[in-house]
Amino acid sequence: MRKVFIQTYGCQMNEYDTQQMLQVLATKGFERAESPDKAHLIVINSCSVREKSENKALSQLGRFAALKKQDPSKVLAFGGCVGQTEGSKLRSRYPFLDFVFGTNNYRDLPEMISEYENQWPSAEEEDVLLPRSRPEAQAQAFITITNGCDKFCSYCIVPFTRGREYSRTPEDILKEAAALTQKGVQEIMLLGQNVNSYWGKNKQGAFTSLYDLMVLFQEESEKSLKGLKRLRYTTSHPRDFDENLARAFSELPVLCEYLHLPFQSGSDSVLRKMRRFYTADTYLKKIEMVKRYRPDIALSTDIIVGFPGETRQDFEDTLRVIKEVEFDNIYAFKYSARPYTRSEAWVDDVSFDEKADRIQELIQFQRTFGAKKYKEDIGNMVEIMLEGPSKTNAEFWTGRTRKNRVVHLPTDAQFKVGELRYTKIFDATHSWLSGELIPSGIVPLQGARRSA
Ligand code: SAH
Ligand code: SF4
Ligand code: F3S
Repeated sequence: MRKVFIQTYGCQMNEYDTQQMLQVLATKGFERAESPDKAHLIVINSCSVREKSENKALSQLGRFAALKKQDPSKVLAFGGCVGQTEGSKLRSRYPFLDFVFGTNNYRDLPEMISEYENQWPSAEEEDVLLPRSRPEAQAQAFITITNGCDKFCSYCIVPFTRGREYSRTPEDILKEAAALTQKGVQEIMLLGQNVNSYWGKNKQGAFTSLYDLMVLFQEESEKSLKGLKRLRYTTSHPRDFDENLARAFSELPVLCEYLHLPFQSGSDSVLRKMRRFYTADTYLKKIEMVKRYRPDIALSTDIIVGFPGETRQDFEDTLRVIKEVEFDNIYAFKYSARPYTRSEAWVDDVSFDEKADRIQELIQFQRTFGAKKYKEDIGNMVEIMLEGPSKTNAEFWTGRTRKNRVVHLPTDAQFKVGELRYTKIFDATHSWLSGELIPSGIVPLQGARRSA
C-alpha cells in the first residue's frame, strides 16, 4: 500500500487542508503512514504567521531530508503558507525537495505526484472525492467556510499566504456537513481567518451571512444534519462581530456558548498602527453586547505583545482590557516582523527580553481571571465530549465542555472517544477542571446549556 505522512503546522485551517490533502491523495491509493519513516510520500504543511512558526517547519524539513538520504525513493514535498509565498526560493535553497506547493493548489497534488508513480507500489485509482474516509474524524470536524483575508492588519502575513477573501456557497458547506454528520460527527467548527465576514451566495443568488448560515445549521440539525450537537466558529474579527452574531448565542441551542474574539492590544494608538479599525472601548462594548445576550459565555482572545512602539503604558492598557473582560484563555504572542507586511519596515524597538517579560507578566496576570472563570463550574453538572486519555497522565481521560473547557476525569474502561457524557465538576485550576462521571442515562434536570 502507498503511504503518506503529513506534518502539519499552524492554525485549524491548515489542519483542515491536511484532511483535504489526505482525501485527494486517497484517490491515488494513498493511506496514512503512522510515522515518516514508513511513508513513500512525506509532506510538510507549513505556517508562516511568526518567524518561529516558519523556522519550525524548516528545521523539520532538515530531519526529513536525513530520512530521504537513507532512502532516496522517498518523495519529499513542502506546502502550506510558507510554500505559497516562498515557493521558488525554497526549491533553490533546498535542492533535495522534490516539489513545493501553496495553499491554493494542494488539490492538484494527484498531478504533482504523477511523475513519481513508478517509484511506488501500484495502486488502484478511485474517483471518490467527497468525505470517504476522514482518518481523523471521529466526533469533531472542521469545515472551512471562508478562505483568505482582506483585512491587511499591518503585522500580518495571512492575506499574502491565503490570498483574497472568498466565501464558499451555503449549499456546499451544508453538503459537507451532512456527509460528516452521517459518519457520526457531532461537533462542527466553521473556519475562516475572518469568519464573521462570511458572505456566501446561494444558488438563487441571495447572500447568506454567518448568522444566516448558523440558522440553517440549527434548522438542519433535526433533518439533514441529524446528530449534530455542537457548532462553533473561529476566528472572529471584532469589527465584523455584530448584534445578530451576539444574539445567536441565546437563540441557537446548537451554537456553543464560547467565543474567540482577538483584540491584539488594549491601546488605541497601537490598534491604529495595527490597522484593526476599532478602539479598546468599542471592543469592550461588543463584549458587553454578547454578555447581554449570553451572560455565561466563555471568551478567549489573541494578543500581540511588543508591537513596534508599544510603551509600558500601552501594555498596561492591554492589561486593563484583560481585567475588564475576564477571559477563560489568552493566546499571547511576541511581535515578529513578517515579510510583505507594512510593519516589516518599522523599527522592531521593543527588545526580545522586554517582550518576554511582558508576556510573562500578562500570563501571570491572566491566571487570576482564568481561575475565577473555571471555578464558576465547581458544583455544576456539565456536558462533555470525551476526547481520549490525558497526554500527561494515563489514569485520566479528558473531555471538553461546550465552553471549550477541558475536564480531567478518572479513566473508565467503558469510555469511547466522541461520546457525550455528563460530569460533576469538583475542582478547577486556571486552565482545566476536575470532574467525576455521572452514570450514562442520567441527564441532569438543569440541562447542558445553562451550566456546561
Ligand atoms: N485571523 C485571525 C488570526 C490570525 S493569526 C484574526 O485576525 O484574529 C493568529 C494570531 O497570530 C493573531 O490573532 C495574532 O495575535 C498573531 N499574529 C499574527 N501576526 C503576527 C505577528 N507578525 N507577530 C506576532 N503575532 C502575530
Ligand atoms: Fe491577519 Fe488581520 Fe486578517 Fe486576522 S484579520 S488574518 S490578523 S490580516
Ligand atoms: Fe499560519 Fe497560514 Fe494559518 S500562516 S496561522 S497556517 S493561515
